Parts: sequence; C-alpha cells; structure tokens
Amino acid sequence: MLFLVACLATLGLAWAEPRVIEPPIRVDLQPPEEFNSRDAVAMNDVITSWITMPVDHFDPQNTDTFDMRYMYNEEFFGGPGYPVFILIGGEWNIAPGWLRGGNMFEMARENRGYQIYTEHRYYGETLPYPNFTVENLRFLNVDQALADLAYFIRDLKTQPRFAESKIVMYGGSYAANMALWFKQRYPHLAVGVVASSGPIKAEIDFTGYLEVVHEAFLLEGGEQCMSIISQGISDTVQALGTEEGRRLVEFNYRMCSPLVDYNDVYELGYFSGFISWTFSGAVQQARPGTLSEICQNFVNNAYGSTPMEQIGGFIAHRQNLGGSCWGIQYAALINTYSQNTNSRAWYYQTCTEYGYFQTAPRSGTVFDPLRWLTVDFYVDICRRAFSAQFDEEFVFAAADRVNEVYGALNPDVNNTINIHGYIDPWRALGVYDRDISETSPTYTVPRASHCFDMQNWLTTDTIRMTHAQQAARRHVARWLN
Ligand SMILES: *[C@@H]1O[C@H](CO)[C@@H](O)[C@H](O)[C@H]1NC(C)=O
Ligand SMILES: *[C@@H]1O[C@H](CO)[C@@H](O)[C@H](O)[C@H]1NC(C)=O
Repeated sequence: MLFLVACLATLGLAWAEPRVIEPPIRVDLQPPEEFNSRDAVAMNDVITSWITMPVDHFDPQNTDTFDMRYMYNEEFFGGPGYPVFILIGGEWNIAPGWLRGGNMFEMARENRGYQIYTEHRYYGETLPYPNFTVENLRFLNVDQALADLAYFIRDLKTQPRFAESKIVMYGGSYAANMALWFKQRYPHLAVGVVASSGPIKAEIDFTGYLEVVHEAFLLEGGEQCMSIISQGISDTVQALGTEEGRRLVEFNYRMCSPLVDYNDVYELGYFSGFISWTFSGAVQQARPGTLSEICQNFVNNAYGSTPMEQIGGFIAHRQNLGGSCWGIQYAALINTYSQNTNSRAWYYQTCTEYGYFQTAPRSGTVFDPLRWLTVDFYVDICRRAFSAQFDEEFVFAAADRVNEVYGALNPDVNNTINIHGYIDPWRALGVYDRDISETSPTYTVPRASHCFDMQNWLTTDTIRMTHAQQAARRHVARWLN
C-alpha cells in the first residue's frame, strides 16, 4: 500500500506538465447548463451550415474567401415574415446548446422566431487561414467581423421567407460589444440588439477588473475572508524576497520546482497572475452562493492552516490540481499563445484592439501587492508571441483607435438593451450606471456575474436576475410588434 502511494506520488510529479493557467481575458461561453448533458447526437433540431465570406470586406481587389460556420434551429419559426434571432459568436467555438436553451431561445419561442448562431472569423472552425502567423492575422478585427454579420444578413434576406423578417441580435461579453456596435454601424439591418456584459471601452491598464473582483469577494464573503486573503497575498509577496521564504512559497503553492528566476519581472508577473487569475475566474463565473462558499472555506481554514497555505490550497482546489504539482514558467505561457488556437487569436485582438490587461490595482485592494502584473507584463506577451512591433506605444494606439471608431462609453444607438451583473469584473468597462439613451435602457443586477442573463433560469437565480431577463424579453417583443 505504501509502495503504491509512493508510486503514484512519483507519477504525479513525473506527469507534472507545466499546465498553463491563462488570464481570464478570453471568455469561453458555455451553453446553458441543463442542456450540456442532453444527447446532442440524437437531436436534429440544430443544423450546422457554412457560408462563403470575403476575407477582406473593405478591399474590392482582394477576392479571397473563406467559409464561415453557423448553426440554426427552425423549430419555432412561424414562416415568412416572422423574426430571425441571431446569437453572435465571439472568441470561442460555437455550440448547438445555445440554440436549445437560454434567454434568446425563450425569445424565439415567444415570437415564433428562427434561431441562428454565427461563428466569429478565426475561432472554432471558421478559419480564413489555418496558420495564425502575424501576416495571416491581419484580417482578424471587429470591423471585418461586423461586416461578416452584415454580409450574412444580406445573404439571408435573399431567401423569400426572410425577406420581410425583422432581425434581433444577442451577444455576450465581446460579442455584446459586437451587438451594440453592429446596431450603431448598420442600424438598418437589425431592429434591436441585446448586449450582455459588454466591455465596450478598450482599456490597456485595466485595474478596474481586479477592483471589482475585490469588491465582489467583499460583498459576498465579508471582511473576515478578505483579511485572510489579504494576509495570504502580502505574506507571499514578502516571502518572495528571501531564500527561506521562497522555499515556503514553493511548498505552499505546490510548485514542482522553483521559479526559473526570482529576479525576472515576467516570471514574477506570471506567478502573480497564477494567483489573481484564479480569484478572477471564480468571480467571473460566480452564481449567487459561489463566492460565499469559497469564503466560508477560507474562514474555516479548509484550504490550509496559514493564510499563505490557504491561497495555495484554494488555487489547487479551484484549478483541480489533484495530487500533482505546478510548473510555473513564463515560457510555457508564451508558448500557449504561440499555437494556432482561440487563445492566440484572442490575445492578438487584445494587443491590436482592446488591451483589457488585468493589472494590479493601486487602490488598496487585496491584489495591490501583486505589483508585477503590469501593462509591461501583458504587452511583453504581445511582443513575444506576435511581433516586436507590438510594443506599448502600438498597443495604446490600437485601443485609442477602437474607442475613436466605436465611441467607447458613449455609443450613439437606439433600440439596444444593455445588461450587466454588478459583481462581473467586466462591467467596469461597460455602461452600467445609466441608460445608454432613451430607447436603450441598462439593467445592472446585484449579485449577478458575467453574461448571467443569457442562461436558462436556474434555482440559484435571484428575483432581480429573473426580472432582468423578463424585461429583455418584453423589450424584444415590443420591437417586433
Ligand atoms: C506556420 O507558419 C510558420 C511561418 O511561416 C511556420 O514556421 C510554421 O511551421 C507554420 N505552422 C504550421 C502548423 O503550418
Ligand atoms: C435615436 O432616436 C432619437 C429619437 O427618436 C433620434 O433623435 C436619434 O437621432 C436616434 N439616434 C440614432 C443614432 O439613430
């Protein structure tokens, strides 16, 4: 028995691939929960199809094309002239579950609508080029992606049954930006849009993100929990300053080996992210109850016996480390962004359009001591994974361009519904404290997190959450009458 345990422990170490923890900059919207487990193979309600798209909508001399994937479900469709609902895909793979449940599905049911889910260029199987070289990525931007949607709708309208149909669009997270910006740029193509948790302002030094993470834990978990987390993080940062302290950090955080270089700001940046991104992920995906449960564990010393050990234990638990250990190497993070994946495509968009870099706040939060989480750290990934040309000046200019073109926190739109969760860290870059215009109301819901309204009704939902979903459905019904 002892032998077996020893064997497993050795195997655990041997298999300790440096598993990379990515920053929650990229959102991967998972389909409504109740439908995850349904037998998708047996169902034929959602059908996959493809449309041929120009690679470059803005250069008539470039006649290259690619195939864009989309899915549709016509089970509720009332026939010619009835509405079409388009769920906008963002930086993830599209999945049929989103046309089998959730708030847009309810809207389609209530209005006898046709449902479509479009995939964003360069994500999932919608690949203008299979190899994501910097050269090949130059057609990856929101301007092209919005034009894809316009082209898609124009093509749809050539079918007689849709010629008179009104179009309603729904998007969450980055796709919520797309929904709002589409309505602003192509108002004649959609009668209205629902934007869930859209961070519509591009920002490089996004300290607001971790400020909301702090506030969310405080609101849901209380002072006692915060003081343990605060102590754990500051003890960790202090320990990094001595040899003896470093051994304690390695032990408490279950690291397979020491950091490559304790004087390298990027290795320290990645280690800082390893801590903050785990807290961030918990908040971004929180349902009512999630954060208070985590905090109860902190208060009951369930993750360890000292504050530092508790942070390490929390990360291991939350990230399902099991009996293994962490390999924390900046090079492994860079390597993740060097593969032809959704992660690389989205990081490219952050370098060339949005920033969204979740840096350490300087306002008294528990995350302030993680001072290596700087703009320079995130921009260094841009430089190394893409091009030396992507330096700080380049990245700041890129975000300025997006804010200039789309209006940042002052988009000029009518007929949009703008929904935020108060404990969603992304709301710091959205319009959450006022209506966008008379015809574009905002609903910001306490205790709710990222894109909560897109989901099915869940038993943990608060009344306010349900009311926001219903309000969106009422507005949509009004647009269609
Ligand atoms: C992608 O292109 C780069 C640069 O041309 C090349 O080095 C690499 O091998 C290519 N990767 C694949 C998977 O084709
Ligand atoms: C929005 O509606 C208002 C009131 O009808 C109108 O004055 C304004 O021009 C509209 N804005 C846009 C961008 O269509």
